[in-house]
Amino acid sequence: MAVEHGRVSIHGEWSSRWVFILATSGSAIGLGNIWKFPYIAGVYGGGAFVLVYLLCIVLVGLPIMMSEVMLGRRARQSPINAMRTLSAEAGAARPWRLLGWFGVVAGFLILSYYSVIAGWSLGYIFNALAGDFRDVGAEGVSGIFNQLISSPLHMLVLHTVFMILTIAVVARGVRSGLERAVRLMMPALFALLLVLVLYAMMTSGAFMQGLHFLLYPDFSKLTPTGVMVAMGHAFFTLSLGMGAVMVYGSYMPGRSSIATASLMVVIADTLVSLLAGMMIFPLVFANGLEPGQGPGLLFQTLPIAFGHMPAGVLFGALFFILLTFAAWSSSISLVEPAVAWLVENRGLSRPAAAILCGIIAWLLGLGTIFSFNVWADYRLFDRSFFELLDFLTSNIMLPVGGLFIAIFAGWIMPRAMTEGELATGRRVYASWRVVVRYVSPVAVIIVLLNLLGVLRG
Ligand code: PHE
Repeated sequence: MAVEHGRVSIHGEWSSRWVFILATSGSAIGLGNIWKFPYIAGVYGGGAFVLVYLLCIVLVGLPIMMSEVMLGRRARQSPINAMRTLSAEAGAARPWRLLGWFGVVAGFLILSYYSVIAGWSLGYIFNALAGDFRDVGAEGVSGIFNQLISSPLHMLVLHTVFMILTIAVVARGVRSGLERAVRLMMPALFALLLVLVLYAMMTSGAFMQGLHFLLYPDFSKLTPTGVMVAMGHAFFTLSLGMGAVMVYGSYMPGRSSIATASLMVVIADTLVSLLAGMMIFPLVFANGLEPGQGPGLLFQTLPIAFGHMPAGVLFGALFFILLTFAAWSSSISLVEPAVAWLVENRGLSRPAAAILCGIIAWLLGLGTIFSFNVWADYRLFDRSFFELLDFLTSNIMLPVGGLFIAIFAGWIMPRAMTEGELATGRRVYASWRVVVRYVSPVAVIIVLLNLLGVLRG
């Protein structure tokens, strides 16, 4: 039985399984799907990259998501304490506790730049409303974008506002804060994406070309770095490897099925990414833009469409509002593990813990802001500060965190513990166990070795 140990979370619970699915989708679906996925697919050549990414989602992402939810629900505590409780319960060595800490650090690092990019989205709401996109061409939009990223002050203001929004929700707690925030936003975002894909389909004249780029696997374009980025992105987009899903799992009501819930989140997340690609690439090709231009892709493509469509001011503003909301429902899950721990162990009130975490992530975010302007010339390994942070977190920290979660769930926890908590049919359990013990760890290890250059040459 799933609840035989009788633990309850001091932070409360989602009011139903649906809310868990909604909130976890809210965490998963964010800038990763709409901003990052299209731009990295563009940089790494399209179809073959997308195929590797989809494989990683199925073979690594889904089983690790189930594991994280399971660990969280069994322990009903912040990831740091969850790892402590579960390693004691499983008779595992003390260093396993560090896994929770590792995730908290990754969460801060990601949030610091996530908030800056979400700030861009926030800023674009005002550009859209002001009519800045009206009839713009490719040059006009890149002018708007460059103006934004070359102004540290402008970015700082937006980053600050976004961080305050994040903290405000986290401070209010599981039910009245997080839960309320995601209920409306996710369905609206999905609907608007569909509308925009239809628009791209009907008007761009390059829909097939965009689709071809996104889905036709040309393996000659796939590089070892592309494989690594695809795997890293599978973790990033599903919010895995740092405790966000674990902490949301710790608020999951008693006996609902972890396998079904995880599968639904994974499907929703993947659909949104593919839709985002189908919305952006036709516009890229129709306007003679460069698919591999990097982080500015979304911000330098979509406004062209908004500038030409009927009611473009409305659609443009709506799109960036919803994107900001999607980012918001993800950013709250990036700090929730740290906040839950501060409340559990340091006796802080939720608001105090949230503010403290917000200040730390806000300060770190300054580095990302400057990396686009005043520090643009400082590079390490040919990467700016922002690129290094993104690389370190998505391509190293999350996969490493996920690897250890898979090993813990598949090898360290006794079978009876995981079987009881997952409580699914025999077949599903057996497949989960094989994949999480062998397939996912091996896949992650190969990709990480590849990163070290061990398999190269
Ligand atoms: N999954 C989120 C996105 O795609 C980002 C995220 C990563 C959130 C890790 C929480 C943890 O935008």
